[in-house]
Amino acid sequence: MPEEANEAQRRQWNDEVRLSGWLHREPLTATVTPTLLHHAALKGGETVLDVGSGGGRSAIAAAGQVGPDGEAVGADISLPLVALARQRAAAGGVTNARFVVADVQTAVLEGAPFDVALSQFGVMFFDESVTAFANVRAHMRPGGRLAFVCWQSLADNPWFAGASLQPFCPPPPRPGPGKNAIGPFTFAAPEHTAGVLAGSGWSAIEVTPYRQTVTVEPDVLLDDDSYLRYLGVAHDDLAEARAACERHLAPLRRSDGRYDAPLAFQVFAARN
Ligand SMILES: C[S@@+](CC[C@H](N)C(=O)[O-])C[C@H]1O[C@@H](n2cnc3c(N)ncnc32)[C@H](O)[C@@H]1O
Repeated sequence: MPEEANEAQRRQWNDEVRLSGWLHREPLTATVTPTLLHHAALKGGETVLDVGSGGGRSAIAAAGQVGPDGEAVGADISLPLVALARQRAAAGGVTNARFVVADVQTAVLEGAPFDVALSQFGVMFFDESVTAFANVRAHMRPGGRLAFVCWQSLADNPWFAGASLQPFCPPPPRPGPGKNAIGPFTFAAPEHTAGVLAGSGWSAIEVTPYRQTVTVEPDVLLDDDSYLRYLGVAHDDLAEARAACERHLAPLRRSDGRYDAPLAFQVFAARN
């Protein structure tokens, strides 16, 4: 029987340990929201789809920009993250942001056609990227805008200590037939990403690179033992794996114990 789309990712983003690992990282990625919203150039009354909306912060910020006559819909494959996003919206008294559990690669989402689709690091996990971006486009009004943030290369993002875990973890599974590789750095090469967007029918594709250094607490970059175990590090290798991560991050460590993380990301913009 053919595998359901994004089955492995669905499992991962609904796994308790994976999620607690991700939520430690959130303060780092949240720093790019103003840059993303600058590119989205939202206007009052517009409708917005946030793809892979996670804990909902960018959708809630977008809802604030489109105002009471507009709406932001956050769609995410993770049930616990959608619950968190709903909780945050309610706590902030935000009534024009709504969150749904959905695989954006295949789902038919209520609220279409949208004026703008945006995403903050939520588009790199589709196992059929062209299909997914075509599905996003199918939810847009003619002339609708797309803006998303993704990472530049791993080499340009030395804050990612996961790079030093390679010797301790099983290799990632090869993509199955008709599927593409996924992961945080999948869209690093601008020509490749522009090709995916063009292949799914988007036009006027532009990319803008950014660099921004952000100071963070150690646990934002260093994963705890339960997360290392989740990644596949054997119990007996935990101390060594952790030490490898600390060595990797040592050049970024400040005298106060925090880290200066140099982020290299890029914003892709396109039109329907
Ligand atoms: C790196 S997190 C980013 C979350 C959020 N945008 C943020 O910046 O905090 C990636 C998000 O994409 C979601 N995701 C992965 N594959 C997805 C899919 N096929 N459809 C919808 N969401 C997906 C994950 O559940 C996760 O919340």
